[in-house]
Amino acid sequence: MARIVAFFNQKGGTAKTTSTLNVAAALAERGRRVLAMDLDPQASLTMATGVDVAGLDASVYDLLLDDGLGLAAVATPTAIPGVTLVPSHPDLAAAELELLNVLERERQLDYRLRSADLSPYDYVLIDSPPALNVLSVNILVAAGELVIPIEPHPLSLMVLRRLFETIGRIRRLNPRLRVLGFLPTKVHHSSRLAADMLATLAEEFPDLARLPAVPLSVKSAESAAERTSILQYMPRSAVAAAYREVGAWLEAHGSSANGHADPVAAGQERVSLHV
Ligand SMILES: Nc1ncnc2c1ncn2[C@@H]1O[C@H](COP(=O)(O)OP(=O)(O)OP(=O)(O)O)[C@@H](O)[C@H]1O
Ligand SMILES: [Mg+2]
Repeated sequence: MARIVAFFNQKGGTAKTTSTLNVAAALAERGRRVLAMDLDPQASLTMATGVDVAGLDASVYDLLLDDGLGLAAVATPTAIPGVTLVPSHPDLAAAELELLNVLERERQLDYRLRSADLSPYDYVLIDSPPALNVLSVNILVAAGELVIPIEPHPLSLMVLRRLFETIGRIRRLNPRLRVLGFLPTKVHHSSRLAADMLATLAEEFPDLARLPAVPLSVKSAESAAERTSILQYMPRSAVAAAYREVGAWLEAHGSSANGHADPVAAGQERVSLHV
């Protein structure tokens, strides 16, 4: 069964899109079949995978709001071998309002994924918008697992409190949601800020795993501009190596892995202690 993993953080610019793209490429390199879904009206992932947004017949917007449209009608090949994309479109910004009139608006993405044939895929990776809105809630309800990309920034830890509150509430709608852990991104090795943030994370969220860190590098931005993954653009770079490690980490920490404390509940408890 395909694992549905969302890269989620309501804070902007934490490398959600970069991580979705490059983890997709890393898993594809390992022979996995990946469906990447762009749930952000900014359509950054769609553009970064080389898909022409203007030329699209249908996007994730149509998938969410048109009952008659299946996943297969929206999925499109990308410039990255082994990676198929459900593209976004700026129209998706209107979905927020339009979903208000839809019954069970939080469950639309979940319904679409449940009724779709996901057997052609091993992974469904979802890129999220920097928001906590109806679209984001749809992602949290549909996902099986979450990765939280986080960059060394003074605001990064503050937003986590709200994120875990939201995840706590979502559990009613999606009890099987599992937070896999934090993915430190844009990490400058000699930066005091990064070291401090990682230490605080370990202290405040001791039950949450830390995925392999991704170093800060201008190459990341260059590869997005080239409309491909950094694994293809700069296969021997440190960032490509890091995302390969993240791919391997995901494979090693399967959705059926057990024996862990409940990370969401643990995060919740910690958060409330730190309010
Ligand atoms: N490892 C890295 N080193 C340097 N810059 C990076 C790295 N990863 C991502 N970036 C850059 O950081 C910026 C934000 O990255 P990205 O768009 O992936 O974040 P995001 O979380 O998806 O943003 P948004 O919240 O707007 O969707 C981009 O300009 C990207 O090129
Ligand atoms: Mg993004």
